[in-house]
Amino acid sequence: MSDNTIIQNDRQHVWHHLTQHKAFETTDPLVIVKGKGLVVTDAKGDDYLDATSGGVWTVNLGFGRDDMVDAVANQLKDIPYFAGAFGTEPGAEYAKELTDIMPGFDRVYYSNSGSEANEKGYKMVRQRAHSYNNGKKHKIIYRDRDYHGTTIGALSSTGHAQRKNQYGPFAPGFVEMPHCLCYRCPFGKKYGECNIECAHALETIIQQEGPETVGSVVLEPITAGGGVIPPVPEYFPIIESICRKYDVLLHIDEVVCGLGRTGKWFGYQHYKVQPDIVTIAKGLAAGYAAISVTVTTEKVFELFKQNPADPESYFRDISTFGGCTAGPAAALETLKIIKRESLLENVCNMGNYLKDKLFELQDKHPVIGDVRGKGLFCGVELVKDRETKEPLADQDVVAIVGHCLKNKVMIGRTNRSFVDANNVLLFSPAFVASKSDIDSIVDAVDVALTENA
Ligand SMILES: Cc1ncc(COP(=O)(O)O)c(C=O)c1O
Repeated sequence: MSDNTIIQNDRQHVWHHLTQHKAFETTDPLVIVKGKGLVVTDAKGDDYLDATSGGVWTVNLGFGRDDMVDAVANQLKDIPYFAGAFGTEPGAEYAKELTDIMPGFDRVYYSNSGSEANEKGYKMVRQRAHSYNNGKKHKIIYRDRDYHGTTIGALSSTGHAQRKNQYGPFAPGFVEMPHCLCYRCPFGKKYGECNIECAHALETIIQQEGPETVGSVVLEPITAGGGVIPPVPEYFPIIESICRKYDVLLHIDEVVCGLGRTGKWFGYQHYKVQPDIVTIAKGLAAGYAAISVTVTTEKVFELFKQNPADPESYFRDISTFGGCTAGPAAALETLKIIKRESLLENVCNMGNYLKDKLFELQDKHPVIGDVRGKGLFCGVELVKDRETKEPLADQDVVAIVGHCLKNKVMIGRTNRSFVDANNVLLFSPAFVASKSDIDSIVDAVDVALTENA
């Protein structure tokens, strides 16, 4: 197919996500046709350096990897699919390998998107409430600025006010707690002089709602799309102790951080915390197959097999594409590659390098109010004024990202998540990034800030 035909077909028939299509009446959609390492090529033959791992933190090993393609192809030749009521070889092997790097966890439930994995976690909480607490302990607490997915249940548990606009009414039983971004502390405090009010707020909410009604709290270990927000070290131990006190399950959404993005296997492993439910997607198979998992402790799993005489006692969920074997085959190979190529180490080293370079940019550009992140997962918050911290206007942030794109470097941004506060640039290059990749990314941002801010 000619390059022009691809673009025309796309323009006329594809409905892109997060896109106002009026723009395509005067400009061409960007259609990506191939990639190698961190570089992708569009249908016109232009190359771009991708600092986003495929747009949304997914292609963590880079593009064009024959080892990944072979792992998937070999599996498809054996058997491509069988529904999850039965087992498959890669499903069994991957569940063992994954739980080996997650001490305290034993069970893996397969599905095929981050939203779906979270929904499974919520359904476990709801069913536990019905089986053991007369349906009462069903409420799920989520946090302002966290994102948990696109389905109505997952969106009901999402703290992105603007993203939720026009999609209500939402599912009942979801309650919001404050975010933990020190730069904009919701309690007007300063770290070092505060009592970690953002974590203790959980207890206040549980008491307000009634502890007998609260089943779980769902949190990103480091908020991603809400602006890259690593909590302070005290945060999660406080959260966990409150959960234990009130018999509330702790569900950590590792859809972005999971499998190495922050320099450890999981974001929660930076903090002294042991969750009950962990959900993972995106980089799990590095974009070479669609797969997500809901991982639980044996204690949670046991709740669903204690009454075999009751036909409604087991987890009666279904995920058709949770039975695709390409997912666990690709996930298994991803795990092997991360180990074989010491990529956690590279993520730490290159992540530190990236953060240092972003701090240098902050010294140079007053528009940078805050630099945050862990590993190859960084955010740069842009402000009109460092004193007032007034967020840079959406259109200015869009112009900066657009300027980088014009110079063939793709970076991310908080995208229509918060009214008048979508002011964080997002950086998440693949784990194989080199110093020179990072130099090129930061140079492009430097030029874009000089010309647009
Ligand atoms: C933290 C988090 N959880 C869940 C999701 C939803 O994942 P998916 O788009 O695969 O449904 C996302 C997607 O961006 C995410 O960032």
